Amino acid sequence: MAALARSVLRYSARHEAAASDSFADHVIYGLGENPRWLSAKYFYDAAGSELFEEITRLPEYYPTRTELKILADHAREMSALIPLAAALVEFGTGSTKKARILLDASPQISAYVPVDISAEFLAQEAANMRRDVPNIAVLPVAADFTRDFELPAQIRNRPRVGFFPGSTIGNFDPHDAAEFLRQAGRILGAGATMIVGVDRIKDEAVLNAAYDDAAGVTAKFNLNVLTRMNRELGSNFDLSAFRHRAFYNAADRRIEMHLESLKQQTVTVAGRTFEFRKGETIHTESSYKYTVESFRALAQSAGWRPVAVWTDERDYFAVHALKI
Ligand code: AVI
Repeated sequence: MAALARSVLRYSARHEAAASDSFADHVIYGLGENPRWLSAKYFYDAAGSELFEEITRLPEYYPTRTELKILADHAREMSALIPLAAALVEFGTGSTKKARILLDASPQISAYVPVDISAEFLAQEAANMRRDVPNIAVLPVAADFTRDFELPAQIRNRPRVGFFPGSTIGNFDPHDAAEFLRQAGRILGAGATMIVGVDRIKDEAVLNAAYDDAAGVTAKFNLNVLTRMNRELGSNFDLSAFRHRAFYNAADRRIEMHLESLKQQTVTVAGRTFEFRKGETIHTESSYKYTVESFRALAQSAGWRPVAVWTDERDYFAVHALKI
């Protein structure tokens, strides 16, 4: 199951305007706005999480394999920035695969703190980690990592290293990304290090293909949110009357995913009716892309000092190291 399935990401300050935290309230709020929108966090039910895992294996979806290779190729240099007896704090842990690369290269790490909203998932991952890496303390924290949370008392006196891979930071609007980094800095404390994976601006054709793959997996992933609403909110979306659209918006430096209505139609959601014009869309996700410089500027605006960056030979992805 994917990391984000269990992580309540706000993705946008607009969420703060929504009246309550319930799925129904958010959907009614977002569909009632012009343009209509839904939070990308709703992609990650069980089916959506499986589809996301499938996306990470698609030939067009380069971020996952590129980041894994950067981590593997440069793990020793990253390790050199990690102090003795440090605690590695992973924000929104999905698979522990990426953290394990850092842990394997860094015997000086004394504790691993995965932070995730699902206590059940965390318990399982923690058990696996304790079995495979018995020499470190595994201290899971069940919390929404986008909000304030307490680190375990056991690591109070240890140096902290934050880890936020996957370019999940790209799913936040830049304002929220800066807010997340500021808060991570407060939680990790002065002297902390942060290692963040960030997708880079590149050839539009490469970006567009990564979010509109030939096998149609990303389309299924996007449309699955309608299935979820039909099941959980009793809505009557006709999946054949909407299509997946994904494109790079160069002005805003982001991929946008939308669901486009193929005809004039009326849909009922949680007892409310919504009229869709033909061609009207629901904006379901933004995935922001950064240059090395634009991400560094964002991190600096949030109080972090860029200290290193590692990339791949195609310049598709970047792993940044920051200090506070
Ligand atoms: C989870 N996140 C970093 C993915 C991305 O690339 O923005 C989500 C995704 N959406 C479509 N494909 C992948």
